[in-house]
Amino acid sequence: MSEQVKTAFELKGVSFKNRVFVASGTFGYGDECLDLIDPSTIGGIVTKSLSRKRREGNPPDRIVETAGGMLNSIGLANIGVEAFVREKLPRVKTLGTGVVANIAASSIDEYCEVLEMLEREEGVDAFEINVSCPNVREGGLSFGMSCPLTEELTRALRPRTRKPLIIKLTPNVSHISEFARAVEGAGADAVSVINTLIGLAIDVETRKPKLSTVTGGLSGPAIKPVALAKVYEVSRAVSIPVFGIGGISDARDAIEFLLAGASAVQIGTANFVDPSTATRVAAGIESYCSRHGIVDVSDLIGAMDASQRVSVVDTWL
Ligand code: DHB
Repeated sequence: MSEQVKTAFELKGVSFKNRVFVASGTFGYGDECLDLIDPSTIGGIVTKSLSRKRREGNPPDRIVETAGGMLNSIGLANIGVEAFVREKLPRVKTLGTGVVANIAASSIDEYCEVLEMLEREEGVDAFEINVSCPNVREGGLSFGMSCPLTEELTRALRPRTRKPLIIKLTPNVSHISEFARAVEGAGADAVSVINTLIGLAIDVETRKPKLSTVTGGLSGPAIKPVALAKVYEVSRAVSIPVFGIGGISDARDAIEFLLAGASAVQIGTANFVDPSTATRVAAGIESYCSRHGIVDVSDLIGAMDASQRVSVVDTWL
């Protein structure tokens, strides 16, 4: 029998069972899919973005299907950090999987306050900071599209926790690697690449935009090549780990992200098609490694063979 493949992922002293997570906003608070998947088969659950107060989110329509993807404008609807701590965390922390609390806010003080409230609780393993929601006026992209603000926010959060601090970056900027470098310098332990791309869909009969907010965030298989290129760019620019996100539907997609330079991946939109995608992806990565004689999944990170190709990314960096 072949040797057991090493799947564990260590981030700042926190150990996750494997390198496959479910992305924020696609798995609720981790307690809704318990009849559908065994959470202990995946590395962790990233919660829906938590804000200081409960948010209703944007009016409908707030989700539309597009070619190979999905356009959403949820507007950070969530139960608020206190209700999460009271009603969700006690259960979620017993599931045998990593818990990554995603935080959204409209000021640096509010980000800090939400993080501090979660920091006091047992059961949160890491923080992911959403600076890239395309669907709210305050906060969201006004942080994520400003490199100085993103850096300042990271600097403000860093001393408030010893746990892994992950900054989720938007692709809606000219050079995402500048942002990655800035947050690395400000003390971030990892970056998530990428959040959704701004998109628009129009009903030609009514001539109205399909989303109530006109534009929204595009996700799903349609964005995978864009996400891969961003992961490739960022992972060459920084030495902290990169969570690769964007259109992953199966193990092959996930392996592409690892080869491009991601240390771990998150499954997002595919959860709406099949909530067991992350479980299948984790098992598929393991069997790929067995088949190829790879002893540790980490051996795949950045292992794309680009020899005899000319990478133009090097000229951007
Ligand atoms: C929301 C939507 C997104 O596409 C995203 O990337 C982050 C947040 C939202 O509207 O809640």
